[in-house]
Amino acid sequence: MTLAFFNGEFLPTDSLVIPIDERGHQFGDGVYEVIKIYDGTPFLMREHLVRLENSAKAIRLEMPYSIERFEELIQEGLTRAQLRDAQVYVQITRGIATRLHSFPDVPPSTSMTFRPSKSLTEETFNTGIKVALLEDERWYNCYIKSLNLLPNILAKQAAADRGCFEAVLVRDGYITEGSSTNTYAVKDGVVYTHPANKRILNGITRAAVLQVAQESGIEVREEAFTSEFLLAADEAFLTSTTAEVLAITHVDDTVIGTGTPGPVVRQLHAKFRKLIG
Ligand code: PDD
Repeated sequence: MTLAFFNGEFLPTDSLVIPIDERGHQFGDGVYEVIKIYDGTPFLMREHLVRLENSAKAIRLEMPYSIERFEELIQEGLTRAQLRDAQVYVQITRGIATRLHSFPDVPPSTSMTFRPSKSLTEETFNTGIKVALLEDERWYNCYIKSLNLLPNILAKQAAADRGCFEAVLVRDGYITEGSSTNTYAVKDGVVYTHPANKRILNGITRAAVLQVAQESGIEVREEAFTSEFLLAADEAFLTSTTAEVLAITHVDDTVIGTGTPGPVVRQLHAKFRKLIG
């Protein structure tokens, strides 16, 4: 079943518990994480919660619970919901106070949802997906996993309108990342991806996949590359908690490589699956 949590209480997901004056609701004044659970085990949960803490710090928001307490609450939610393959959404905001832009003196709010996983089909992994190139119109602090996702949502929808799975974003001619994924190009056996600076979210899956690549003897260069470089790549792929390692076979009307998942992406996907266990 699905389950929710709001400020200390486990509740049904359709409970009407968020007051109008909640700052996540009114300002998007908060940060979040998405954690995947495979067969009862949260995958890289500590890494996600450390990033949540760093995102909170970056917007001067105090963590409502310690990382250890979050881990306990997540385990409790999974047990209560009787979920083994799940997606947990964790959000913290600056709390509930009469609408005023400056910070209120109130405790932060925590909400969570526990839902069955929405995994991609094996066919999607085997065939790969198409992406659309779109302008990166986001702010300069994309390393913060903030609730303010309007540019991401607009880009994702524009891509969907073109029949694409994801929007790959371009800033000043360089590929940054996807609307909710990190982006990679492979040329002559080398994996290229944007450096983890303020222009992208430093993906937890990204870090795991780059480590898997290095352990497999695949060279990785954390260098920004242009959209022309992507279009001429031998292979391309994206990563995220929900999409794992997914081949990009088409960028708008351009076929990437052979138009099917290539050897590097297939190897990385297989090794990533092993890591999951
Ligand atoms: N999205 N870049 C952006 C902009 C993202 O929103 C995400 C994650 C990623 C990949 O990060 P990770 O590997 O840690 O999931 C990169 C989540 C899944 C979401 O918003 O649903």
